[in-house]
Amino acid sequence: MLDGSAGGAIVITSGKGGTGKTTAAAALGSCLALLGRRTLCVDGDAVLKNLDLCLGMADASIYDYNDILSGRCSPDDAIAAHREIPNLYFLTAPVEAARPGLPELIKDLKKKYDYVIIDSPAGLGAGFHEASAGADKAIIVSSVEPSSCRDAARTVQELEALGISDVRLILNRIRPSVLRSVKMNLDDAIDRIGARLLGYIPEDKAVIIAAAIGKPLMLHTGKGAAAAAMRIARRLDGQKVPIA
Ligand SMILES: Nc1ncnc2c1ncn2[C@@H]1O[C@H](COP(=O)(O)OP(=O)(O)O)[C@@H](O)[C@H]1O
Ligand SMILES: [Mg+2]
Repeated sequence: MLDGSAGGAIVITSGKGGTGKTTAAAALGSCLALLGRRTLCVDGDAVLKNLDLCLGMADASIYDYNDILSGRCSPDDAIAAHREIPNLYFLTAPVEAARPGLPELIKDLKKKYDYVIIDSPAGLGAGFHEASAGADKAIIVSSVEPSSCRDAARTVQELEALGISDVRLILNRIRPSVLRSVKMNLDDAIDRIGARLLGYIPEDKAVIIAAAIGKPLMLHTGKGAAAAAMRIARRLDGQKVPIA
């Protein structure tokens, strides 16, 4: 366990699909590990899992968390270490419906890691609850589009109902030219969502290229979205890094 408010189990969520949850979970997990924090990434998106691809860890383990929950294997059997990023570990989701018990498993696993980063499925249904209920904190990933902000605001309320009040916001896929042309103010989006801003991630084609070649973003580039993710990770870890 780390000192102060850093560390713990953090769910990456949004309400709306396609906002960049999985991208952010992989990037933040990689960054925290690169900062020397023992970090476990958990794919909480059963059936539609893809955090393994963003981490460059497809087929890293033959076991998923259903295997742990059903007693077929131990956590150590199912959790794989990243081959290139020290301190980074990964637990994958089943391709079939998740068994109940993920929140209890997260609470148990977090004793052995500085951070547990959980990638949540879209929506506010059962999958979201299972992915979130074991978390201490949440990070909402939203674009500035009104539909995304509305879903994010709704997600803040759902998280509060689950007892998670430490909710931070990442605004993703920021394109300054688009914001200028519709005279949109980022502060409006933040106010609408009602969560403290943790940082911005720009729209960056490197995100799509890294995903396409199956390489973690942080090993592909140190600029653009990758640089923004590292600033966010440092802030999350308690360092004083100004919001760019
Ligand atoms: N900052 C970004 N710049 C460019 N593309 C992005 C960015 N963030 C996410 N994407 C792309 O958007 C798509 C959805 O991202 P993903 O992380 O899978 O979202 P979610 O997990 O919320 O459904 C993916 O194709 C991803 O590569
Ligand atoms: Mg996803």
